[in-house]
Amino acid sequence: AACRAAAHRTLSLTVTQVCLFLPFPTVLVTQVEVGAWTYHYGDKSDYSWELARNFCRSFYTDLVAIQNQGEIAYLNRVLPVHKPHYWIGIRKINNVWTWVGTNKALTKEAENWAKREPNNKGRNQDCVEIYIQRKQDAGRWNDENCQRKKRALCYQASCQSSSCSQRGECVETIGNYTCDCYPGFYGPECEHAVKCPALATPARGRLNCTHWHGDFTYNSTCSFSCNMGFVRNGSETLECTALGQWTGRPPLCEVMRCPKLRGLEPVLVNCSHPLGSFSYGSVCRFRCTQGYFLNGTSRVQCQPDGHWSDKMPACQGTLFCHVLASMGSSAFPLQALCRSETRG
Ligand SMILES: *[C@@H]1O[C@H](CO)[C@@H](O)[C@H](O)[C@H]1NC(C)=O
Ligand SMILES: *[C@@H]1O[C@H](CO)[C@@H](O)[C@H](O)[C@H]1NC(C)=O
Ligand SMILES: *[C@@H]1O[C@H](CO)[C@@H](O)[C@H](O)[C@H]1NC(C)=O
Ligand SMILES: *[C@@H]1O[C@H](CO)[C@@H](O)[C@H](O)[C@H]1NC(C)=O
Ligand SMILES: *[C@@H]1O[C@H](CO)[C@@H](O)[C@H](O)[C@H]1NC(C)=O
Ligand SMILES: *[C@@H]1O[C@H](CO)[C@@H](O)[C@H](O)[C@H]1NC(C)=O
Repeated sequence: AACRAAAHRTLSLTVTQVCLFLPFPTVLVTQVEVGAWTYHYGDKSDYSWELARNFCRSFYTDLVAIQNQGEIAYLNRVLPVHKPHYWIGIRKINNVWTWVGTNKALTKEAENWAKREPNNKGRNQDCVEIYIQRKQDAGRWNDENCQRKKRALCYQASCQSSSCSQRGECVETIGNYTCDCYPGFYGPECEHAVKCPALATPARGRLNCTHWHGDFTYNSTCSFSCNMGFVRNGSETLECTALGQWTGRPPLCEVMRCPKLRGLEPVLVNCSHPLGSFSYGSVCRFRCTQGYFLNGTSRVQCQPDGHWSDKMPACQGTLFCHVLASMGSSAFPLQALCRSETRG
């Protein structure tokens, strides 16, 4: 345990693992320390490829997986000369050279073999070493017998589960990482969310927003509703897209309308319209011309639901029948009551 604690403190390339015992702990230690993508090697012992991998996985992340030429040049520059050279994380699996960390096949472009390699000398060269500061083919790879003893060349990943604010892909680099932010986020750690223009509460309505990453930012969702007596014209909800635009225009709250009324002799109508023509809040009063009497209400009001508060009245006379005419929709429930009875 003391040994492992010591290993955990090694974060720089120059520090090496000294105390080591075999067999390795059977439980592999998952490294979740804050650190950079750094390289490590055991300088007291050389191991077979399998044990070298166990060593790396016990104390660091894994045997190195080489990503690019820059990394190769870096390793060849900073690692000390060691005659048996260093094991890396490539192995022949089912006759395919495979990166053991990702279990992905080695691509043609990524190959970095030394001249006339891999040659599978002795027909059992299934593991890969890297030549460090060799006179020829420095930094290049050679296939080797897995039982040969070499230094373990390990790396420690710098990407943590919390890297890039969990809003992007974390990409390992030498000594650090970069963030490939998901749409809607930006910044070195993807710490910023794209902003949309702030929305205002609509006149005679309400605005209810849910913000995930800050006020009026990517993925914020706003829903609109209108006060009693007003109807929404436009989308109910808008969402802030990754491009910083809303999915539509904010809606308007328009006043609810009632069917229009028009007086026809002998019915006289006088209406007031505080909010809009024959709309929520409008009031109409009825009278009859002389000689007729009103049967029904003398006043109706346009309600929030777009209906008049009462049935329309009728003016009844002695001989003739006149009704209140209605303009507007056929749904308007005007039932003119008409009697031809004689009245004194
Ligand atoms: C590592 O990279 C991250 C993300 O780009 C950056 O925020 C951080 O400052 C870098 N750390 C070092 C030590 O360079
Ligand atoms: C706002 O919207 C959320 C989710 O849609 C809902 O739970 C909440 O009750 C709403 N608040 C108001 C004041 O309407
Ligand atoms: C976006 O919002 C949806 C719900 O509307 C949520 O489930 C999802 O996690 C959010 N995504 C991001 C990246 O914020
Ligand atoms: C909604 O608004 C648009 C333009 O602002 C208008 O052309 C349309 O007639 C309105 N729709 C209703 C049902 O009022
Ligand atoms: C209608 O009513 C208003 C008051 O409610 C009154 O001032 C106006 O003179 C009336 N008009 C007619 C034509 O009766
Ligand atoms: C008023 O009209 C109703 C029908 O809506 C009718 O039943 C009633 O008799 C009428 N009243 C008079 C006094 O004519």
